[in-house]
Amino acid sequence: MKRIGILGLGYNFPKTILTNAELEKMVDTSDEWITQRTGIKERHIVGNETMANSDMILPAAEKAIAEAGIDKSEIDVIIVGTVTPDYFFPSTAAMLQKKLGIKHAMVLDFSAGCTGFLYGLDIARGLILSGNYKYVLTVGSEQLTKITNWEDRNTCVLFGDGSGAAIVGDMKDDKGHEIIGVLNDGDGHLGDLLIMYGGGSVNPMSHEMIDKKLQYLNMDKGGEVFKHAILNMTKISLNLLKKHDMTTEQIDWLIPHQANIRIMEKVAERLNIPKERVAITVDRYGNTSAASIPMALGTYIDEGKIKEGQMLLMTAFGAGFTWGSAIIKW
Ligand code: ACO
Repeated sequence: MKRIGILGLGYNFPKTILTNAELEKMVDTSDEWITQRTGIKERHIVGNETMANSDMILPAAEKAIAEAGIDKSEIDVIIVGTVTPDYFFPSTAAMLQKKLGIKHAMVLDFSAGCTGFLYGLDIARGLILSGNYKYVLTVGSEQLTKITNWEDRNTCVLFGDGSGAAIVGDMKDDKGHEIIGVLNDGDGHLGDLLIMYGGGSVNPMSHEMIDKKLQYLNMDKGGEVFKHAILNMTKISLNLLKKHDMTTEQIDWLIPHQANIRIMEKVAERLNIPKERVAITVDRYGNTSAASIPMALGTYIDEGKIKEGQMLLMTAFGAGFTWGSAIIKW
C-alpha cells in the first residue's frame, strides 16, 4: 500500500485586524462577552482590500509547492474546500490554477463548511491511491466576512478570513508527513441551522432576496451547533483512533477546528487530552472555517511547538452538518 502524506504546507491571511473593541462600536457586544463565550480576541479580515479568495490562497499554495520541492507543473489536481468561492463558476480551483500559471490539472471546488480541509485530505488521498494522479493541491480557504451580516451580533463576532494549502502525494523516499488515517461523515438533516439561504436555486439572486438579507450566513440555535460539534468531533476521533489501533495517549497534539475555545476544551476533555497539547489559534484568527486547521498547524510549526515526528489528531465540524478527523505523523 502506498504511503500518502502532506509533502508541503502553507497558510495565509489578510493584514487587516478587527479587534473585539472595534466590534463593540459596530454591534451591541463586549470584549468580555466575546472572550468568555468564544475565546476570540481578534480576527484578520479582507476589509477594504481588493482580494478574491483565490488571491488569498495563492501565497499559501506557493509556499506549499516550494516546501514539497516539486515543480508546479507536476500538480495534476487542485481541490478547494470553500463556501465563499470567487464565483459560482468557474471554480476557485480554476482561478487559482490560472494565477499559479499551471496549464493542466483537474480543478474543482467542494462545499463541506468548516470540515473542508479534512474532507480535502480524504479526497486527495483517494485520488492518489486511484493511481491516476500524482500531486493534489488541497486547499481550505474562506472569506466568511464577505457573507457576514455586520448587524447580527450572533454571528459577526465569530469569523475571520484565511487560507491553508497542502500538497498531498505519495511519500516516496520517506519525504513528507504521513496521513495515517482520515475519516469523514455528514448529515444534512440539521443543515438549516447554519446556512446561506440566498443566491442559489431555492432563492435566486433578486432585489427581494437582498431585501430579506438572505445573502448572509445565517446561524440558528448556536447552542445546538455547539452541542453537535462536541458530540461528533469526539465520536469520529475515537472511531478513527480505534480503526488504527491507537489511543489518545499516542497523540502529541490535538488540532481541532478553531470555532470556539469552549468547544475545543470540551472535545479535548472527552478525549482525555490535556489542554497543553491542544493547538489554539482562535484567539488571533477567529473562526476561519475550512482554513482553521491548516492555519493552526502552520502557526504551531512556525512557532516551534509542533515538531517533526509528532503524532497529530485533527478534528472538525461544520455546515452541512459535516464532521471529520485525521491522524497525521508530522
Ligand atoms: N454579544 C453579546 N451578547 C450576545 C452576542 C454577542 N456577540 N451574541 C449573542 N448574545 C446574547 C444572546 O442574544 C443571548 O441573549 P438572550 O439570553 O438575552 O437571548 C445571550 O447572549 C446568550 O446566548 P447563547 O446563544 O445562549 O450563548 P452561548 O453561550 O450559546 O454562546 C455562541 C453563543 C458563541 C454562538 C455558541 O453557541 C457557539 O459558539 N456555538 C457554536 C457555533 C459556531 O461556532 N458556529 C460557527 C460555525 S460552525 C462551526 O464552526 C463549528
